[in-house]
Amino acid sequence: MNILLTGGLGFIGSHTAVVLSQQGHQVTILDNLCNSQIGVLANLEKITNQKLPFYEADVRDTQMLCKVLSENQIEVVIHFAGLKSVSESAQDPLKYYDNNVGGTIGLIEAMQVQKINKLIFSSSATVYGIPHYLPCDEDHPLAPINTYGKTKLQAEEIMRDLVVSDPAWSIVALRYFNPIGAHESGLLGEVPNGVPNNLMPYVCQVAIGKLPHLNVFGDDYETKDGTGERDYIHVMDLAEGHLAALNYVNHCPGFEVINLGTGIPCSVYEVIAAFEKSARRTIAKKVQPRRSGDLPIYFAKADKAKQLLGWSAKRDLQTMCDSSWKFQENLSK
Ligand code: NAD
Ligand code: UFG
Repeated sequence: MNILLTGGLGFIGSHTAVVLSQQGHQVTILDNLCNSQIGVLANLEKITNQKLPFYEADVRDTQMLCKVLSENQIEVVIHFAGLKSVSESAQDPLKYYDNNVGGTIGLIEAMQVQKINKLIFSSSATVYGIPHYLPCDEDHPLAPINTYGKTKLQAEEIMRDLVVSDPAWSIVALRYFNPIGAHESGLLGEVPNGVPNNLMPYVCQVAIGKLPHLNVFGDDYETKDGTGERDYIHVMDLAEGHLAALNYVNHCPGFEVINLGTGIPCSVYEVIAAFEKSARRTIAKKVQPRRSGDLPIYFAKADKAKQLLGWSAKRDLQTMCDSSWKFQENLSK
């Protein structure tokens, strides 16, 4: 199929591009490079041994989108393009509403003009907010506690309304838990801007000596070892989840939300221990007070993905850490 990936040079989009191309799909990428590097394209082409059409453009540019959709006879869009920093979304909420909600509206308008009605959307587990129960299933109440999460929820709601207005649409919103890891080649991975906010990129930079130590945000939670627990999922599992969702949108009209997680929570200390094994070095750490807005634990109920998509995550924490380290080593060469 002809598939457009918005934000396709980013962390999750680039890994998905590999999986889709290797399955014989024709992938076109549109990205404004606000959080990615053009060099990712060359690595993608190296891995897939294919030339991928690329447009440096913004999803809010509806005219440009119409051109890209028609020029490449796009049949399905996977909408990764978005901003994802919780802290930045608190400082600059309009930027987040404009990009994440405005960008989604612009994309849908262009798809309507071009009569394309199959869409897969990058949503986030952050739409659930503070868990009322665990594991978190898709029927859990939706009450995001940060602006970033609110933009994801609003985008979902727009899509839900759209499908009610026109049942020919087929849309799946995938709610990702905590994606980490990298492509096995070591050529693709997560490249954070500035000092990383998230655990795995921070650990990677401590491992290469770029940062002196990891700040462990709290070791007094009611969790297995006192540190926060999350549902880390290998980015290649996530990419394969998009392939499964592609098959689904092709056959099932309507709107669905589906968790993509492993269903297995891991603590900060477990991640550090696995990473130390991968990198064969010790990660210096200092326990700090809890980070404001952090939840002690959350993880997915992953049954719906299995039932509807026939997909489940396969790679374990060690594989996630091995691949993250391989990518980091390559980057530092
Ligand atoms: P990323 O920042 O690596 O990739 C996003 C890509 O979109 C970047 O290449 C960026 O340049 C591009 N982009 C952003 N705004 C754009 C715009 N207006 N027009 C065109 N391109 C634009 O992020 P990621 O980790 O790959 O995340 C992909 C999607 O998944 C995002 O929507 C994010 O909110 C969502 N998500 C990510 C996580 C995570 O932890 N990584 C978790 C849940 C959901
Ligand atoms: N942590 C540390 N030190 C760090 C960074 C993180 O101890 O330097 C801890 C956190 O306290 C937490 C765990 O590691 O217990 C994971 O933290 P991350 O920042 O990697 O991930 P979060 O679960 O806090 O947030 C991520 C994304 C958000 C998204 C959320 C839900 O960053 O954008 O998952 O999908 F909203």
